Amino acid sequence: MRKGLQNVQNSENNNYRIIAVDDEQGIIDSLSIFLKRSGYDFTGVTDPQEAIEKVKSEHFDLMILDFIMTPFHGDQVVEEIRKFNKELYILLLTGHKDLAPPLETIRRLDIQGYCEKSDKFDQLLLLIESGIKSIKQMNEIKHINEELADTYEKLENAYLESIQTLRYTVEAKDTYTRGHSDRVSELSVLLGKKMGLSDQDLRTLQIGGLFHDIGKIGVPDTILQKDSKLTDDEYSEIKNHPSIGAHILSTATLFKDIIPIVKHHHERYDGHGYPSQLKGEEIPYLARITAIADSFDAMTSKRTYRDSLPLETVISEFKRCRGTQFDPELDDAFVDILENHYDEIKEIQEKYKGEIKERYLNLLLYIFKIILGLSFYSKSFILYFH
Ligand SMILES: [Fe+2]
Repeated sequence: MRKGLQNVQNSENNNYRIIAVDDEQGIIDSLSIFLKRSGYDFTGVTDPQEAIEKVKSEHFDLMILDFIMTPFHGDQVVEEIRKFNKELYILLLTGHKDLAPPLETIRRLDIQGYCEKSDKFDQLLLLIESGIKSIKQMNEIKHINEELADTYEKLENAYLESIQTLRYTVEAKDTYTRGHSDRVSELSVLLGKKMGLSDQDLRTLQIGGLFHDIGKIGVPDTILQKDSKLTDDEYSEIKNHPSIGAHILSTATLFKDIIPIVKHHHERYDGHGYPSQLKGEEIPYLARITAIADSFDAMTSKRTYRDSLPLETVISEFKRCRGTQFDPELDDAFVDILENHYDEIKEIQEKYKGEIKERYLNLLLYIFKIILGLSFYSKSFILYFH
């Protein structure tokens, strides 16, 4: 029975790869016999440089390392290895305990343990066994983290998909918004790039632009689709959309970075915007960028009551509103794009002309999938309780 258990333990050990580095061939030979008998997958090396190369090219779980070696000592080997591998579990073998490296070195190089060399390997085997236990736990934690990350990503995607559907729904009922949020998203990123923003900020601008008008889902269709001039009351209803949008997105942490964009893209630099009448630098920076992209797209979109404005008029509007409606520095940068790099804007405008039909098909397909899913579940439900 004991022997059976021992065999199981030994075959489990076989999953772990140990490398030993000692410039004395005799020690390597003894370790080889001893550790192979315990079931470990063992590799012995006498040259420290070769050991570094092996760790670089192969996977090992644990390293047993002699401290005093030629041409360089064990701590130098660890120093090199730690530059590219932080995970390898390292045990240091020392001669006499007075020759052990200082504790500070052991900590700095993240060496997990050390023991004195002796003919008996009992102490070393105990250290190896506890090392393998730690490695096993670390691997399990890593595996759980990977699974969690995977689940989180799936949840994120599912949430993103449902908000995307909401966006298409808004676009389906508000003719003006069609393609608008895609263009605002890309125009914001264009301006963000010009301002030298980080990749993370550019991503926030991209998603923020896509969903900035999501709150229009809460505005009555009669107001969104009205051809004539809005009454004051109707305009007040429209002005609720940034707060409604921020509220819709507040349920998921995934959107926490874009909420300031959604909530404040209608603030004005002079403090006369909505919903919070924020002024100047009080307005979140990314929201100030989206405000410019949003206004530009509004000016260049056809409305029922007017044609799209010509480029010269748009440029003079941006110059006129510098420091009142828009952040002056961002306004200057955008005018520079309008005057000198208009082809990049044109490209974005062209890109979102032909996608509308495709988008409605996607929306219909999505609704169809939901209906199919519901009917499947209701049938299963009936069968289950029958
Ligand atoms: Fe808006």
